[in-house]
Amino acid sequence: MDALIRIDDVTKQYDRAGQPALDGVGLQVAAGEAVAIMGPSGSGKSTLLNLVAGLDRPTSGTVTVAGVRIDTLSETALARYRRRTIGMIFQFFNLLDDLTVEDNVLLPAQLAGVRRAEARSRADELLAALRISQHARDYPARLSGGERQRVAIARALVNRPTLLLADEPTGALDTATGEQIGEVLLDLNHTGQTLLLVTHNPDLAARYASRTVELVDGKLASDVTTGVRR
Ligand SMILES: Nc1ncnc2c1ncn2[C@@H]1O[C@H](COP(=O)(O)OP(=O)(O)OP(=O)(O)O)[C@@H](O)[C@H]1O
Ligand SMILES: [Mg+2]
Repeated sequence: MDALIRIDDVTKQYDRAGQPALDGVGLQVAAGEAVAIMGPSGSGKSTLLNLVAGLDRPTSGTVTVAGVRIDTLSETALARYRRRTIGMIFQFFNLLDDLTVEDNVLLPAQLAGVRRAEARSRADELLAALRISQHARDYPARLSGGERQRVAIARALVNRPTLLLADEPTGALDTATGEQIGEVLLDLNHTGQTLLLVTHNPDLAARYASRTVELVDGKLASDVTTGVRR
């Protein structure tokens, strides 16, 4: 496999005394895959995602994304990596409440130094695709949970990331709204977006990912590719 993500023998130990959060994990993900990461609470799912996002570093082992060893990058290079290569969405959306929807979406583009006009046209395109253009000038507090998550997805995509990471993106949503977000993620994957999705929900994993990886106690317990998608 020509891996976009390559995790080799990764261990993450937050404190010396306890059990490691990840224990000798190896995983490769090809460009264009949609991979669900499942496992019990505390099994290391978010830790794994954060290592791929460059938000944290492994205690040992290597993390390589798009051919670059990110576990050894400087802080400056990591910040650039996060801006250019990674889009991330979370359970509780993490929008900035005192910025409008449009400004939330524009923020990562501004941080990456993208020209204002170009960033605006990309943001408009995403807001339209995600059917939230009518809320462009509203503040997030006025939006429903599903709408907020669509704003968060637009924000994650504004810099055209190589990799979209999602940590329980439907965890705070009701079933129907969660399914709508699942559909958005599936559509994105169908256009070629590589997706790593942490979820507790087996239906979401089965319907919106073509491969499911399971962590138990920080170890890879199973890795099943179904390849079956609608
Ligand atoms: N910043 C941290 N400092 C210390 N320990 C941590 C930290 N983050 C996670 N841990 C510990 O590492 C282990 C794995 O946590 P992690 O958040 O990766 O689990 P998870 O699978 O995402 O769980 P959940 O499904 O509840 O979100 C847990 O025992 C947790 O307490
Ligand atoms: Mg977690």
